[in-house]
This record gives sequence, C-alpha cells and structure tokens, in this order.
Amino acid sequence: MGEYVTLGDTALKVSRLVFGTWVTGGWAWGGSDEKEALEAIIAAFERGINVIDTAPVYGFGRSEEIVGKALKTYGRREEIVVATKCGLQWSDGGKRIWRDSKPKSLYEEVDKSLNRLKVDWIDIYQIHWPDEETPFEDSMEALMKIRDTGKIRFIGLSNFEPSQIERCLRVGPVHSLQPPYNMFEREAEEKILPYCIEKGIPTLVYGGLCRGLLTGKFKGTETFPKGDLRRHDPKFKAPLFQELVRIVEEIRSRIKPEKKYGKTMAQFALRWTLQRPGVTTVIVGARNPAQAIENCGALGWTIDSDDMATMEEILLKCP
Ligand SMILES: NC(=O)c1ccc[n+]([C@@H]2O[C@H](COP(=O)([O-])OP(=O)(O)OC[C@H]3O[C@@H](n4cnc5c(N)ncnc54)[C@H](OP(=O)(O)O)[C@@H]3O)[C@@H](O)[C@H]2O)c1
Repeated sequence: MGEYVTLGDTALKVSRLVFGTWVTGGWAWGGSDEKEALEAIIAAFERGINVIDTAPVYGFGRSEEIVGKALKTYGRREEIVVATKCGLQWSDGGKRIWRDSKPKSLYEEVDKSLNRLKVDWIDIYQIHWPDEETPFEDSMEALMKIRDTGKIRFIGLSNFEPSQIERCLRVGPVHSLQPPYNMFEREAEEKILPYCIEKGIPTLVYGGLCRGLLTGKFKGTETFPKGDLRRHDPKFKAPLFQELVRIVEEIRSRIKPEKKYGKTMAQFALRWTLQRPGVTTVIVGARNPAQAIENCGALGWTIDSDDMATMEEILLKCP
C-alpha cells in the first residue's frame, strides 16, 4: 500500500495521500463525532498515511485539538508530518471570518496552534488564503522568523495564484502549495499546476472527492442539513447535481473500476487525481474509519493509459 514521495526540497518522505481534517472539526460539515474522527485518523496512520492537514478555522480550534489527541494516541510524533495553516481569524463562534496575515497575527497564531496540537513543532505551516491587505513580503518574513525559532519547519501557501507566489518567492522559500483539484474541479490545470511543475513546487491538492460527490454515493436528489456546506453548493443542487451524478455513473459503467481494478469509485477518483501532472499528494477528508480505510485503497496501483484517455472523453461532458 505504501506510496511515498520526497516533498520537493524538504527531504520529507510523505505518503501521496494526506489525511484532511476539515470534516473532523465539524464546522461546515454538519458536525462530527469525535470518537469516529479520532479512529479515522489512527486508521489512516496505521495504513501508512504519514501526513495530516488541519487548520485553526476547522471547527474553530476543534480540528487541531482532535489531531493533537490522535498524535498523542498514536505516539510516534516524529513519524507524522503535521501541516496546519494561519492567516484566517474569526469572531462570534465563526459567524465572521476574515483574512489576516499580518506578522503580529502569525506570531500569535503559531503558538495557539502548537498549544492545540500539543506538539513542539509544526512541519508545514501554510498561509490559508492570500491576504491582499498585508504585503506578502511582510508575512513571508514573519514566517521565516518563526521558522528560525524551530516552531515550524517548512513554509507552504494555500489558494495562492502564480503571481502571488512569485512575490513570496522573492522573499523566501515556498515549500508547498495547496490548491483545489479533482475530476470536477480542474481549474488548477490552467495556470497553477503548470507553474508548480515549472518551479518545482510540490502540491497538496485538496477536495479529492469533490466533497463526497466522486464516491458515487449520491443519487442527485439528496438534500443536506443546516450547517453542511453542500446545502448551498451549486454542485449539490439541481440541475448540476444530477448532471454530475450522471457523469459518475458513466465512469462506473464505461471503465468499471470495481470489476477491472477491484476498486471503488472513491478509490478510482482519488487515483485519477494522483496520476495527473503536477500532483504530488492528494488531501482527502474522512469522517469515520470506514471512509479512511477505503480512501487508503487509492494508493499502490495504476489506472492504465487507455482508461485515463477514456476519462478525458467522459470529463469533457462536465458542465
Ligand atoms: N486549503 C483550503 O482552503 C482547503 C479547502 C478545502 C479542503 N482543504 C483540505 O482538503 C481536505 C479534503 O477536502 P474536503 O474535506 O473539502 O473534501 P473531500 O476530501 O473531497 O471530501 C471529504 C468528504 O467526503 C465524504 N467521504 C470521504 N471519504 C468517503 C468515502 N470513502 N465514502 C463516502 N464518503 C466519503 C465525507 O463526507 P460525508 O460523510 O459527510 O459525505 C468527507 O468529509 C480537507 O479536509 C482539508 O484538509 C483545504
């Protein structure tokens, strides 16, 4: 099952699947069960996943706290690459969220994250969203100062465009980028992934299952509870929802991942992303151990070139 890669020039040997913990925090996903969330993380670690991605804003501290508990239970901190983020602030229990990558904020945030995660260092510290109100140069300098203290090891960016990354690179190293990318969300192919290939910046692409849509578990008629981000996502509303479900059905009937590869639709969708140019690792969330274990089955096999070509034909029909 092992499938590892060296993350750019960090020398970190990372699994190509990263455990994402947005759903772990519950917020925007209609809640989460802490016991199941913990078991999901441990199940992934036990199957060789050695990178975990979190953020303070996921559950407003809760996701980082659960990751901290999982690290303590697992016990081998040095084997796990812990990635978290900075630069988003909130108030009123999350009713208001805003970007703030001012040095003062970053200095304060890193201590709060270390405290919630109960670790002595963070391996990859990523600016969550570009904050145009703060010179990127100032934020980068602050991150480099934090790195000098040993609180973080590597600097990453998330949701940055190439021109914004360029500005950061003039000041210091960018060890990784985190853009959205999956079968149904391919905008990164235009500029971001080619740019990362050119610059040698490794990627941790997110949303590998398009918020569950690519698992094939939806019929296109589902509605989502209050507090679940899919309630307001056009991809989960008529008519787009039904059209995307039809495309998933076409993939299943033409390629037959179950029969040909012995793989579920979720595993096939993650594998497709892993095989795309410029993708170093794929981040995928799981709310329970069953999902986590299934997702691990995306590693250690290959979709053949004929099927990758058929996928291009099918995905051309994406609205
Ligand atoms: N940097 C950023 O701005 C940013 C933005 C978004 C995400 N991320 C990162 O990327 C990670 C992954 O993205 P994501 O969580 O948005 O979406 P995702 O990985 O595409 O979807 C995860 C969701 O799909 C469902 N699921 C997962 N595995 C499944 C399986 N095997 N069978 C059935 N359902 C399954 C679960 O939700 P249900 O059970 O509720 O259906 C789960 O919460 C996040 O956790 C986070 O670490 C980063």
